[in-house]
Amino acid sequence: MRPTVAVHHSVNMARLLVLSVLLCAVAAQIGVHAAVVQDGPWCTMNELVCGDRKECYRAVRRCDGKRDCRDGSDELGCDGIPSAALPVNATVLVQAQYTKHFSYSDDNSVELLLCGTDSCNRVAVFGHYLDGRLGTSTWTGCNLSGKECARQESGSHGYVYDLPSGEVAVEVQRRASELAVWRQGHPEDVVTVPIEENFGKLTVRLFQMWNNMPVQFTGASCGAAGQLECSSGQCVDAAAFCNAVADCEDGSDEGADTCEAVLATTTQAPTTPEPTTTTAGPTSPEPTFAPSD
Ligand SMILES: *[C@@H]1O[C@H](CO)[C@@H](O)[C@H](O)[C@H]1NC(C)=O
Ligand SMILES: *[C@@H]1O[C@H](CO)[C@@H](O)[C@H](O)[C@H]1NC(C)=O
Repeated sequence: MRPTVAVHHSVNMARLLVLSVLLCAVAAQIGVHAAVVQDGPWCTMNELVCGDRKECYRAVRRCDGKRDCRDGSDELGCDGIPSAALPVNATVLVQAQYTKHFSYSDDNSVELLLCGTDSCNRVAVFGHYLDGRLGTSTWTGCNLSGKECARQESGSHGYVYDLPSGEVAVEVQRRASELAVWRQGHPEDVVTVPIEENFGKLTVRLFQMWNNMPVQFTGASCGAAGQLECSSGQCVDAAAFCNAVADCEDGSDEGADTCEAVLATTTQAPTTPEPTTTTAGPTSPEPTFAPSD
């Protein structure tokens, strides 16, 4: 009898082990979407698998503000989409780590959204011409997820190559009534889209959102000459700093540290504030997905 018991015992142990591995896998998916699952249900091209592993949904529907999966997993982790404040006249360098994921899609674009309280306008960077110029399209009147735009303002003409995997580096400037985007170091290759006055939040995401792309924002510095940046990112005239009147909404133009620093810089050289760097990572890891081919 003993050997049989021993065998049963080890079978049970093996079961237990399998069970706990499964549980861990399930917990990983439900909790934080940690696992990249390759063996999902038979989702079709450009679809992702829901957390319950039973349903599929279109990747363009991920983080669009509407639940598509019964378990709501298509709208999880959306708070982690990288974004930064972009005050009037500020310029920011955006470096996005793009990985091409869906092989047969026109929609592999990196989306730059400038949003207000009710709507966003969008610049989609979806590729480049042979000479390196960006292939873009611009849209206005989009919803807060950057979808369902009321109007296309411009598009690229001619053959545009897909974005290859790698860093997409563009500079983004909020002007008085438009958003301007150009590839890093090439202000001549600029695309603009009209914006509304209350627009000030820049969000960078994928159109087919199979992951939260890591994005670094550098130097929300004030674009116009003679301006300095408040701690909040607001831009005010350099002359407004340390004049004993709080011009920044947060009063940071009158801080003791700031005033010493400003006096030091103004006596040496013209005033460009040190760029600040923030990294908005994927705070939640990748969602599960099914292979696209
Ligand atoms: C945005 O548009 C998408 C695509 O039509 C839609 O499914 C979603 O519900 C909209 N989201 C919001 C927050 O309005
Ligand atoms: C932005 O720059 C323009 C042009 O230099 C200037 O006229 C305007 O006052 C600036 N606006 C703000 C809010 O800094």
